[in-house]
Formats: sequence, C-alpha cells, structure tokens
Amino acid sequence: MRFEVNGEPLEAEPRAGQCLRTLLRESGHHEVKKGCDAGDCGACSVILDGVPVHSCIIPAVRVEGASVTTAAALADGDDLHPVQESLVEHFGFQCGFCTPGVAVTASTLTADDLPDLDRRMKGNLCRCTGYRPIRDAIEASVLGPVRETGGAAAEPVEGRVGQSVRPEPSRRIVQGLEPYTFDTDVSDALVLRVVGSPHAHARIVAIDTTAASAVPGVIAVFTHENATARRFSTARHEHREDDPDDTRILDDVMRFVGQRVAAVVAETAEAADAACRLVAVQYDLLEAVFDPEEARRPGAPVLHPDRTVEDRVAEASRNVLATLHDGIGGDVDTALASSAVTVSGTWRTSRVSHAQLETHGAIGRMDAEGRLVIRSSTQVPFLVRDELARLFELPRQRIRVHAARVGGGFGGKQEMFAEDLVALAVLRTGRPVAYEFTRADEFRRASVRHPFRVAVTLGATAEGVLTAIKLDVLSDTGAYGNHGIGVMFHGCAESINVYRCPVKRVDAEVVYTNNVPSGAFRGYGLGQVILGVESALDMLAERLGIDPFDLRRRNAVREGDPLLTVHDEHDEDLVWGSYGLDQCLDLAQDALGRGNGVDAPDGWLVGEGMALSFIAAMAPGGHHAHTSATLRTDGTIALAVGTAEFGNGTSTVMRQIGATVLEASAERIVLRGADTDLVPYDTGAFASAGVTGAGKALTAACRQLKTRMLDTARRVTGADAAQLAPGGVQAGGRLVPYADLVRAAAPAHRTVDGIVGTGSEHGDERSLSFNVHAVRVAVDPETGTVRVLQSVQSADAGFVMNPAQCRGQIEGGAAQGLGSALYEEVLVDETGAVANPAFRLYRVPQFADVPITEVLLADTHDSVGPFGAKSMSESPYNPVAAAVGNAIARAVGGRPYHQPFTRERVWRLLQERGAQAAPVAAAASALP
Ligand code: FES
Repeated sequence: MRFEVNGEPLEAEPRAGQCLRTLLRESGHHEVKKGCDAGDCGACSVILDGVPVHSCIIPAVRVEGASVTTAAALADGDDLHPVQESLVEHFGFQCGFCTPGVAVTASTLTADDLPDLDRRMKGNLCRCTGYRPIRDAIEASVLGPVRETGGAAAEPVEGRVGQSVRPEPSRRIVQGLEPYTFDTDVSDALVLRVVGSPHAHARIVAIDTTAASAVPGVIAVFTHENATARRFSTARHEHREDDPDDTRILDDVMRFVGQRVAAVVAETAEAADAACRLVAVQYDLLEAVFDPEEARRPGAPVLHPDRTVEDRVAEASRNVLATLHDGIGGDVDTALASSAVTVSGTWRTSRVSHAQLETHGAIGRMDAEGRLVIRSSTQVPFLVRDELARLFELPRQRIRVHAARVGGGFGGKQEMFAEDLVALAVLRTGRPVAYEFTRADEFRRASVRHPFRVAVTLGATAEGVLTAIKLDVLSDTGAYGNHGIGVMFHGCAESINVYRCPVKRVDAEVVYTNNVPSGAFRGYGLGQVILGVESALDMLAERLGIDPFDLRRRNAVREGDPLLTVHDEHDEDLVWGSYGLDQCLDLAQDALGRGNGVDAPDGWLVGEGMALSFIAAMAPGGHHAHTSATLRTDGTIALAVGTAEFGNGTSTVMRQIGATVLEASAERIVLRGADTDLVPYDTGAFASAGVTGAGKALTAACRQLKTRMLDTARRVTGADAAQLAPGGVQAGGRLVPYADLVRAAAPAHRTVDGIVGTGSEHGDERSLSFNVHAVRVAVDPETGTVRVLQSVQSADAGFVMNPAQCRGQIEGGAAQGLGSALYEEVLVDETGAVANPAFRLYRVPQFADVPITEVLLADTHDSVGPFGAKSMSESPYNPVAAAVGNAIARAVGGRPYHQPFTRERVWRLLQERGAQAAPVAAAASALP
C-alpha cells in the first residue's frame, strides 16, 4: 500500500485491523499521539485529504492513495503554522500532549468557523489548560488578537523570574516533535499485555499457561507462580512506610475487576493478545463488598486477612487500612450542645479519573553495562528506582529510571503501575520490553480519586464565631491501600486547620473494598473534605444571615496563629512564610460583586457561592531535591534537576531561576531532569513541591556557582571585586572569559564539564498557600442542568515566578474542579466493574464546557520559598466543588449533598424542594 504523509510517499503493509495512528507511529511519526483508542480525545488528529480526522479510528488500509498531514508538517519551513505560532504565544498548553492534535484541527479553521468553534474543537480534549488559552490562540490566529492574554504575549521576555517566559520546547511541542515516553523507537521491544480479572473477589485455584506459551512469538508468561512475591505498594512516597505493603506484582487473590492475573510478553501485540485469551484460570469465587460502610461491619468479607500493623494495615479484620480518632480542646459534643447554633450535614463524593492524556507506561531494557534501564511516564523516577531495587534485590546503582516529558499526571503517576512488570519481564527475558496502558486500562487498572463520605457538624455563637468542628470521614481506598493513609490524613488536616476554633474533633477511617483502587489525585483528599466543611460553613452563613465571605473573615486563621489541627506529628514543619487569605477573600468578593455580564437564560434559577482552601507546600516529613548548575567553557550553563516536567511548568521556572541568578540569557541555559543518573536524589514532582523544593535547591546551586565564578575571577586578577558580565566575569578592569574561569577554578569546584555549584533542599519548612473560589450559577428548573455563569478564583501564590504559567495552573485546576463538581464520575456496576471505561462514557470537560475562570493573584512575598514564591499546583482544584455546591444550594433553595451535582441529582433536588415554580428573583440570588 502506498500513500503520502507530509508530502512524502510512504509504503506500508498494514496489519489486519491496524489503525492509521498505529501505522503512522510505527513509521516514526511520533507527532501523532495516542490518548485513547476510540476517536474520543483527538490527540492523534491528522488531516486526511484535507479533512481533520482522528487517526485511531481510521483503518490503515483505507488510506491507500490518500494524503495525510500531521502536526509536524503544518509548518512552512522554519515558520510555524499561524495557529501553532499562536499556541506558543498564548501559552496554549501545559503538558502539551494534546497540542499537536489541537493544532491540526485548528489549522483547518477559518474566521467563518469561529461561531461554531465549540463544536469544531469538541473532539480535541485537553485535561490541563481549561481551554481558555487554546481558545485565545485559535481566535487570535484567525482574527488577530481579540482578548487580553493576561500580559503573557505582550511582556518582553528576558527569561527572568517574575516574567511570563514561554516553555523552551514550545515550538517542538506544537509540532509534536517533543518526545514523550513512547515517542521513541520500540521496534526491538517485546510487547507486554495483561490478563485482567473478571471477578471482584476470587482466589486463583489453578492457572494454566500452556496454550498461551505455545502461541508463536510468545516469549514468556508470568503469573503469581513465577513472579516475585514480595509485597509493596504502588504508591510512591519519600518514606515507603507511608503506604501499606499489600500488593504483589501478580497475586493469587483478585480483589477488583481488572486486577492483573497474568502478563504475557511476545514479539508482537497480536501474539501477546492471542496468548492472553488462552491463559486458563480456575477461580474460587469469594464474596465481594463494594460499600465501605458495609466493609467495616462485622461479618463483611475480609480483603487482606493476613496483613498486620507491620504491613501498615491498621485493622485487617475490619478492612480498615487506617484510622484517625483525635481532637483538641475538650469534648466536642459538649461544645456543640452549648453552642448558640449548630449545623450539620453529610456529603458524598465520587470516583474521578485523572484522565491525563498520556496513559501510564514504561519501556525497559538492559544497557551495555548490564544495568536495568526504565524509561517511564512517572512523576517520581527516584522513588520508582528505589522500590524496584527493593523488589528485585538489586543495588540502586544497577537501575536507572528516567522520564521524557510526561503527558500529564495530576498525582496518578506518583504510582508504580507499569514499571514493576516491565522490570520483571526485562530481568527474566533479557530483552527490551514495552508496556503501554490503553485508555480502558486507565479506568480499570490505574487509580481514581478516593470517594469520601464526610459528615460535618459545626457549632457557633450567634455572631458566627466557630465554637466546635466535628468531622466524621469515611474513605474508600478500593482493593489496595496506595495513598489511602496519606489522603485521609491530609484531607482532614488543612480543611479544618484553616479555621480558628477552640474545639475540633475528627473521626476518620479509610476502608478496603472490592472497588478499583483509589490513589493520589490533585489535592490529595482536601477537595473531598473541603466540600463538607465549606458547605457546612455556607449553611451556617445562611442560618445566621451573615455574608459567607464575612463568616470566613470572622473565623479563618490569621498570620501567626497556631495551626490547631487534631493530630499531626509533622505540623512543626509548617511556617507562616506569608499570608494572603485576606486579600484572596477581598479579590474574589469584589469580582463576584462586579459580575461579568453573563446572564442566565430566562426562567433559570440563579445562585452565588464561594469556598476557600489552604494547603501546605510539600509532603510532611521531608521532600528532598539535589541539583547542580555547571558553567561550561563555551558559556552555556547546564542545570541538572531530578524533578519531572508533566505540565506543571517547573522546567520553565528552573530555567528562569538559572537565568536570574546567573544573569544569563535564555539561550545559555540548558536543563536536564527526571533521570536517576543525573543528580544524587530527588523525592519527586508531587505535593506541589516543584518550585518550592527543586526550585529552591536550584536557586542555591546557581548562587554557589555564581560565588565560585566571582571568587575565581578575583583570584585570577588579584582584584577585590568582581561581577558577572557578558562573556565572563569582570574583575580588576578586565574580562575573565568563561573558558578561563573554568580552567582556573579550584579543583574541588570543577568537573570535566566546568565549574559546578550544587544545592539541595530537604523540605524542613513548609509554607501555606490560599485559594478562594467564587461562582454564580444558573439552574434550569425543568431539567436540573447547571450552567456556570461566572467563575472567579483568587490565589495566594506568593511571588509569582511565571504569571502566565501560574494563571494556567489555576485555570486548569478550576476546570478539573468544575468537571468533578458537575459531571465527572467513574461508575461501578453491581459486579464491581467500571461501567464507563472510555472518554465517550466518562465525561471529561470539553471545549464548550469550561467557562473562563477569572484569575486574581494576591500580592505577597513568602519567606520560605525561592524568591518569595509559594506552591500553586494542586490547590486551585480544592475549593471549586464546594463553591459550586453552595451556589446551587442558594439557587434552588436546597442543598446538594452528592458530588458530582449532575443534572439528574439536581433535578431530584428540585423535585424535593418544589422549586420549579419559584420565580427567579435577582435579590434572592445575591449572597448571603
Ligand atoms: Fe492539553 Fe496537557 S496540555 S492535555
């Protein structure tokens, strides 16, 4: 078969059933990304004979004689296509995995298409940005600039901190030329495929791999009988003891539908798939339990009967992974009984999929020195390396784990879902092995956000001063306890730490069930508990007739307050590095009061709502980063960090730090990261630690390098003073060039590469960030449809290192918050199977769904973070659902208690309230 790709002829013989995307990628066109396999996400978009299509649903045989254009060929020579140029200009991406597909589709649009833009871009999902910068970019490219972009495009770019510096790989990203995990040649790698359990709870009585092993091309079949039996947790933390050892690479007990039964490695995907179908398994079915309330009752089936507190499982016989029963200030019931007013309620949250567009996966091989090398889509390469070393009893130095640019993570890649199997297969076969999740695997075999049941009771004086907070929390960790303990503790901490209150009580348990495992997800439990706490605060505001912003002002912690939690041994780490909550409350309230001119449809009910959140930077108990900065003889500065870039923007901030401290132009900065061979250690890119951890360490490294450069110049010239200058260091009336500096540097400060500065950070102090979200919503009284008319988020990020990127993080977090507030929900059927394991069944916010969130930044300067910066990665998500729930409650006169607040749930609420006939009264919609 012959067809044309980007103007070049391509000869190929498609395999039976092969799609165009796979054929293109196997032909080296890695600019065509894989995000799903069903034509839903658009990451694989190409232009086929002039029409944008999803290449994953085009049979390859059908393109004979056709012409295909990919994102790599939209450009005209060195000039990008106008829409690609515009995406670069407008910061139209974060992880960038969706971007080549977005560019392809958008390149076919003209000004006539703009009124229909939502529909035309509907097939290109972006999980990171919230779409606003993509919309701006498209509109600007076909019309010229139509909206302000927050100063991002207009600001002169010198590469310094505080400026909206564009990511260095921007031009490669918009063309699809920046490599992600699987954008590399894997033609020599065996394909790994997994057999999933059809049962939620069963013991394997017998497993026969004879037929599977006999399939031509099959190299090995792994089961619990021949895999390493050592237990571990897929969750990765600085302290591996933070998670229970309850997981095996391949187990003989199935605890959720989709759990690994066996793994096949074969020469081809077809052989591996055929072999998977031939693995014969005899199960002894066990009773399953899916409700966490039932799971902890006496007589419930026990998932991990043999685990003990030694494995960090609190009460295995009750399926209880961990408990928190603690308080401050005396008996909470007594305090509530003596309070002038009390409010209470019970809220429920649902499973949410990370839905990052790049699925999990890893490629492993042995290198020439006999080391195991794993290229992985991970946020935590060092933690993966260390656990692989433990599992396979190898010295750490015999393993290298590295990541290319990661196509989104949101916490989902703070897990080891693929690397263990790949390592097993590589070590056993000695051959390269690749294991890439499908989108269905993501829903069935990766993790979801922990569903919580949160009961809150608040007591207050008649003036609205809190007297007691009582929290009763139940978290469903699913079949395994990865992140279950940390999510529960974290969720119950900052959500009530933020309020001054003399009496606080928390009773919380996290429970095993036969559901798909839960895991780390942006916010790490805070969003769930904040829904309950902030909704209860809103009830209190309504009851007392107090403006909800004022109620928060009356009760929220102020700078210097003791952070009265229930129990957290790491709280001494928390430091008031700065305080901007007061500004955030003012900014959000003012913006909501101003409105945005968007009206509700006639007859719809309107309500306003707000909520606040705060979060501590980094995980407690240490978060380590080692970095280096090296001046080379040619004047370039090589920065080395361990942290990964997955759309969090830290790689750009790292370059800005280097350019600022070393007064260097952006072209002189070269950054490498996410490689265990590069720096001594890095805990990883999670817990909002990128800038405050690795960034702080790199600041120290660059400062040390600068000092060493100046010292060297002074010693060479005999001068008392020296300063950085173009081309070298100015001292004693002359310029000491870079090459001379490197040669003259003290031996202890020099490597073969140049003069080196090193810096490390250990997370000994953690500062606090604040967010306030406010919305105005309209509710259709006939259908329960909720439309967000106005969305505002104010944030206290300290000194903002890169305003455009920070705005993008907040917009993206808000968009994820709105999705999980209104419709995102991983559904589980009565057998425990995920019922909607595809994007067309699980609704990720599309282009038309996400309102613009107005972003407002407090003016603060933090004493802990580098240059005064604070964290702003996870936290924008946390207050959104509570704000939306509060707005719905005020619109319909009844409070929603089950997130997401879907059309059906809100409709039922309307029925209960009899609100359909209520007139739309503008006065009734205004706070309080
Ligand atoms: Fe769109 Fe990450 S930038 S999915």
